[in-house]
Amino acid sequence: MPALSRKTVQAGALAGALLASAVVGLVVARNAVVTKDVIYVPTPQEVVDKMLEIADVGPNDRVMDLGSGDGRIVVSAAKRGARAVGIEIDPELVAQSRANVEGAKVQSRAEIRDANIFETDLSQATVITMYLLPSLNMKLRPKLLELKPGTRIVTHAFDMQDWKPDRQQAAVGREIYLWIVPARVAGVWNLERDGQQLRLTLRQQFQDVGGTAMVGDQQVPVEAASLRGDELRFSLTIGGRPQAFRAKVEGDRLVLDPPWRATRAATARLR
Ligand SMILES: C[S@@+](CC[C@H](N)C(=O)[O-])C[C@H]1O[C@@H](n2cnc3c(N)ncnc32)[C@H](O)[C@@H]1O
Repeated sequence: MPALSRKTVQAGALAGALLASAVVGLVVARNAVVTKDVIYVPTPQEVVDKMLEIADVGPNDRVMDLGSGDGRIVVSAAKRGARAVGIEIDPELVAQSRANVEGAKVQSRAEIRDANIFETDLSQATVITMYLLPSLNMKLRPKLLELKPGTRIVTHAFDMQDWKPDRQQAAVGREIYLWIVPARVAGVWNLERDGQQLRLTLRQQFQDVGGTAMVGDQQVPVEAASLRGDELRFSLTIGGRPQAFRAKVEGDRLVLDPPWRATRAATARLR
């Protein structure tokens, strides 16, 4: 039951309609009257396909669409071989999307849950998709940042303010944003190899990382740093020569190549 005619409203106006819908209506769900946080407006299929392509969704993924509408993202993700779950609060859309899942014969991989996105455990997802509102993206952001490093989040139309996307691309006039949940690397790390010691201090604003290292009594900048999920890369000038590091972040351990031993001495805020 789209609140807007899909055919008559032009691309771009739909996102405007979402933004304009401060009052989004009540629905009876699970014998209670609940407020929808955003009205139903479907993502065009070309945009769905591009979202899943940008997030590189495949058979190893567990995709969750938050506010899944008629289930089109769930069905499309399942057709790419992923396990897909839609979370939808509107019972009519739950029924319609379950029928769509059956119609597409993807029931073995796809499921629609009659649930509220704010009361849903997202921790098993490897990919989260959302077409919500800027305010809802921001309300979900702390929970999204707690997800396993490397989890991909892809949104249609709306960003997450100062958490800049790792990628942004337009499809049929709609913006698509992709984020990769960054590991928490901010803080102080002690590195040691063959009796040599480094004290690495990392600053972090989401996936942007910088900092300094004490090499003996000399301070050098952390250069060419990048963080993609749990993969950290940086370079330090040691003994006048640049040395490139690659690290996998495993909680309070950095598994480094070259194999310096690294332990976390202090944790700092992500931003
Ligand atoms: C803009 S539509 C997007 C539908 C679908 N994801 C798509 O892209 O085609 C947002 C959906 O979120 C649902 N919704 C709103 N508030 C919700 C909540 N708190 N929990 C679960 N679903 C919600 C609405 O019923 C609607 O179907």
